[in-house]
Amino acid sequence: MTNPSTSSSRTAPAERQPDPRDVGATRWPERIDWEELGPELVAAWGFPRGRFQPEHMEILGPTRSGKTYFQAVILQMRAQARQSHIVVLATKPADATIVAMGWPIVTSWPPPEGKKYRQIIYWARRPSLDDAGLAKQHTKVKELLEALFVKESNTILVWDEVAYIEHILKLSDYVTMYQREGAGLGITNVFNTQRGARVSRYVHSESSWTVCFRPKDADDAKRIAEILGDRKHYIEVLNTLDPLKREFLILHSLTGESYISHIPEGTLKGIESSQETQRKGHRTV
Ligand SMILES: Nc1ncnc2c1ncn2[C@@H]1O[C@H](COP(=O)(O)OP(=O)(O)OP(=O)(O)O)[C@@H](O)[C@H]1O
Ligand SMILES: [Mg+2]
Repeated sequence: MTNPSTSSSRTAPAERQPDPRDVGATRWPERIDWEELGPELVAAWGFPRGRFQPEHMEILGPTRSGKTYFQAVILQMRAQARQSHIVVLATKPADATIVAMGWPIVTSWPPPEGKKYRQIIYWARRPSLDDAGLAKQHTKVKELLEALFVKESNTILVWDEVAYIEHILKLSDYVTMYQREGAGLGITNVFNTQRGARVSRYVHSESSWTVCFRPKDADDAKRIAEILGDRKHYIEVLNTLDPLKREFLILHSLTGESYISHIPEGTLKGIESSQETQRKGHRTV
């Protein structure tokens, strides 16, 4: 993730002195400030060998750990830096963190009146709790997935809580297809989930970037450490993450670089007002 265009106070990965906690080639991650890591990550994401190529990202962590917040911040930065075309697929009844992104929200796909948006939130709600409601939501999500899976799609697609899309909406085949073939269409997948153990293995194996918040218990830590690679090493690393600060570990599979950081409070503007709107029971869409 070394970006020559940003001046960094850090030691370049190649020059870094070994840490006693390194395990072979698996290095103990450095803690660095978000102000430094964030811009470097945005610059490096999608340029694995200095040339553009979609790189998928997965974000793992227990409920309320900060996955959607991290996702919101990184996508806003990416939109600003590169004017990327981004679609956030939301399926929950409500989510103040997604609303706080401030992007237009549509509830049907394609967006009404043939409008085109650079960044958009597609809120595919379940209209009722019964099976018919679930079937309608399944159809709504599928409509988006079929529409975006085209040549030169050049889209970042955000799957907010992918375990729900796989297991409740039964759209695992689409997740696999997007992970295996999406990059060839210019699609970058961003997945987040509370349930790392329950999502398709392609979510893990085809993601270049993995972001993990502190697991909720020892079992969860074991499973996530397995996803990351060296189990013993990553259990130790994950146990050092501070959940109060919402620290996360980020790992780039191509280079093996890993860092620990956290996003300072107040970074995502508009979160208080969107939380207030939800508290008052106003519908967001
Ligand atoms: N870095 C942060 N700074 C300040 N507040 C944060 C930060 N990260 C998350 N929060 C707050 O914590 C709460 C939960 O965050 P978020 O919605 O990102 O959780 P999540 O991991 O996506 O949860 P879920 O799995 O339930 O969707 C929100 O109120 C959000 O505003
Ligand atoms: Mg979330």
